[in-house]
Parts: sequence; structure tokens; C-alpha cells
Amino acid sequence: MAKEKIIIDTDPGIDDAVALAIAVFSDKLDVKLITTVAGNVALEKVTSNALKLLTFWNKKIPVAQGADRPFIEKFVDASHVHGQSGLAGFDFPEPDMSLLCSEHAVNKMRDVIMAEEKITLAAIGPLTNIALLFAMYPDVKPRISRLVMMGGSLTRGNRGVMSEFNFATDPHAAKMVFDSGVPLVMADLDVGRKAGIPGPDIEKIGTFGKTGAMLYALLKKYRSGTFESGLRMYDSCALAYILKPELFTSTRVFADIELSGTLTSGCSVVDLDGFLQKKANTTVFTDVDVPAFRSWFTEALSHCD
Ligand code: BDR
Ligand code: CA
Repeated sequence: MAKEKIIIDTDPGIDDAVALAIAVFSDKLDVKLITTVAGNVALEKVTSNALKLLTFWNKKIPVAQGADRPFIEKFVDASHVHGQSGLAGFDFPEPDMSLLCSEHAVNKMRDVIMAEEKITLAAIGPLTNIALLFAMYPDVKPRISRLVMMGGSLTRGNRGVMSEFNFATDPHAAKMVFDSGVPLVMADLDVGRKAGIPGPDIEKIGTFGKTGAMLYALLKKYRSGTFESGLRMYDSCALAYILKPELFTSTRVFADIELSGTLTSGCSVVDLDGFLQKKANTTVFTDVDVPAFRSWFTEALSHCD
């Protein structure tokens, strides 16, 4: 079967590193491009992290650097979760800088998308690059089979009371994406919380060769969940949907981003009950098969060199 072509927009980040490992070692995906955006840590750091990971894996996938800040909001990182470097816990060798493209992420994404008939986008960081892409180059939209995003919540937030980190970091970008007309899939916080990966599974992953040992060192420093309650592999939920959608229960709904709420700015408003009577624009996850997700996750990482 032909591999699914995909671009991954990311802000590595420990759970991004895990999701990238799954993606670049998957025999079902052809990762055409990785683009970076300011998010878990500053832009120079996330770009360096993407390059370091690919160098570590000896994968010759181009990396293009994107936006260094949200459109309007003040940039606030998540180094309390991922460490000052974004990939706390492991000393990577110097990155292969030849993987870094000279073009801006948005221009490079456009080139890659226009060279394909259909391509999947995965966004596992703030949506600044993706919103810029749709605004600057709307001709890419018909070629995008779907945009699978990690972001938002059906319940509570992790950045604000009601807002999730990726959407709340750049809520204006997120709103532009929800308005874009591109087929959207939203892997929300709730499924990531429910399907945390417990300590014994993390210990097992640590035995999976050099990538397992590297990820184990990062996961020991990761501050989202615990070994006892389960580590939250939010970004891997987006990849899991692309690779094994039957792990999730989902529904098509209208969803949007609250920009003007005095206490809820950046919140994803997911109209599960149809109160707003608006056309569905997003597939959202309402549940996850936890044992099946955990075994898929461990199995996926067992293929990494
Ligand atoms: C999201 O925020 C980041 O810290 C994680 O990498 C994930 O993409 C979860 O809210
Ligand atoms: Ca991320």
C-alpha cells in the first residue's frame, strides 16, 4: 500500500519528540517535511530540537523554521513541562544543519503541498504557521486531505481554566484555522489525559534500543502526568488517529475558538449538542480505547531504531 504523505508542524517538546519518533519510523507514513513554530520553548530551540532528533535518527527529512511568536498574544512557553531546552534529560550530538531549509516554513509547506495531489497535515504545536499558510496561500487548501491537530479540550484547560496550551498560545491563529474550510480533526486534551501511559510501559519503552533509551531519559523529565498516574502523550494521540483511527470514538461537530471571553479566551468551544446550529467543521474525539491505545503506543515505539 502507498504510504500516506504528511507534513508535521511541531514545537518539540518531549511529547512531540515521542510523536515524531512514531511518525518517522512508521512504514505507513512518508514524512515530507517538518516545520517548527514557537511553542513549548522559543523558536531557535524547537528548530534545533527537530534537527537534533532527525540527526539522532539519521533521517534525512527537511526542516523549515516558521513563526517565532503568536500573532497578537504575548509568547509564553511551557518550559516548566519540557525543561529549558524543550528536550530535558538527554544530551544530543550536534545537529546536522544541512537538513535546515533556507525558506520560511510557510513557503516551504506551500511548495511541498503543491507538488502533491493530496497530503495530510499534522499540527502538534500552536497553529501560527498553519494560519499563515491558509491566509497567504489559499490555493493549498484543496490539496490537504485533512489537518489533524493536537489541541483544545471538551472540558477544562491546561494553560487556562478552559484553554489548552496549543490553541491558547495563539488563539487568533486557531480561530483562523477553524474558519478555514479545511477538513479538521481535533485530538483534544481529554483523550490524552484519559490514555496516560503508565510507568511500567515507560520502563518497557526504555529497553527499545537507542531511541527507547533516549525517549526514556526525556520522559523521566517530562512534567505532564506522572509514572504513577500515566504520562500524557497528547501529540501521539494525533498520530494515533492518522495511523489507527479505530482507537478513538469521534463525532462531527461545529467548533470554534473563544477570543473575547474575559475569563475563557483561547478556549475551544465544541458544540456537541448543536446549540449554535452551525455547520460541522471538525471531527472531535469523544473517547479513546485506553488499553488498545497503550498497546498501540508501545508497539509503535518498538519499531524505532
Ligand atoms: C500540548 O501542549 C504542549 O506542551 C504539548 O507538546 C502538546 O502539544 C498539550 O496541551
Ligand atoms: Ca506539541
